[in-house]
Amino acid sequence: MRIPIVAGNWKMNKTVGEAVALAKELTERLPADPGAEVVVCPPFTALYSVGQILVGTTVLLGAQNLFWEEHGAFTGEVSPLMLQDLGVRYVIVGHSERRTILRETDEDVARKLMAAFKARLSPILCVGESLSEREAGQEEAVVARQLTAALAPLSAAAVAQLVIAYEPIWAIGTGHSAAPQDAATMAAVIRSEVAARFGNAVAEKVRVQYGGSVNAQNAASFLHQDGIDGALVGGASLKAVDFAAIVQAARR
Ligand code: PGA
Repeated sequence: MRIPIVAGNWKMNKTVGEAVALAKELTERLPADPGAEVVVCPPFTALYSVGQILVGTTVLLGAQNLFWEEHGAFTGEVSPLMLQDLGVRYVIVGHSERRTILRETDEDVARKLMAAFKARLSPILCVGESLSEREAGQEEAVVARQLTAALAPLSAAAVAQLVIAYEPIWAIGTGHSAAPQDAATMAAVIRSEVAARFGNAVAEKVRVQYGGSVNAQNAASFLHQDGIDGALVGGASLKAVDFAAIVQAARR
């Protein structure tokens, strides 16, 4: 059985003081056994301080990005070993904001996945189509292309540990989430793409999240779909009360 995973992507929000306060409030609001894996992904600048708050709690530390080299002349980048050193357990890879605004390619994403696994960080791989791609009926082809590129260099053992977030770009930060049934359809597409390359046993282990305007009100409608094993939450993860309610909705 797959353990649900709910991750909060704080994006470029929160000073250190604000991040610490949010993490404290979240740990106070969550029950001792939240019934799901709970991850928060603060900005790099707050990782250390939030990590200190999370020690001895059930909430795991995540990062929003990483670079694929371990060290060297890469001004402004953060290495997998630096994240590992801070107690980071999960790392978001290939978020659509990085793919579109920062011009990350499918090949970059593949390198980052490899680097994450090498440093024993668990990647949350983001895939998803744009509005024009959906309107053209290309959503399955786009996600298949993203998965083909990302998964090509990985071993079956690595893929089995992967979390894949289906995040249609048009649903991110817009307040217009996907229809839960459509999200479930895309989760099934993702799992069958994994099965085609790595076999059914691996595909059954991969956890698939939905992300895109998930909030405390609509979370259950996604989390109760067959084949959706969690949520990647942006805006609603910035309020402890809302994020705790989403975690609660993930309980099986
Ligand atoms: P959102 O962001 O919940 O604010 O739509 C989701 C994400 O980008 O991961």
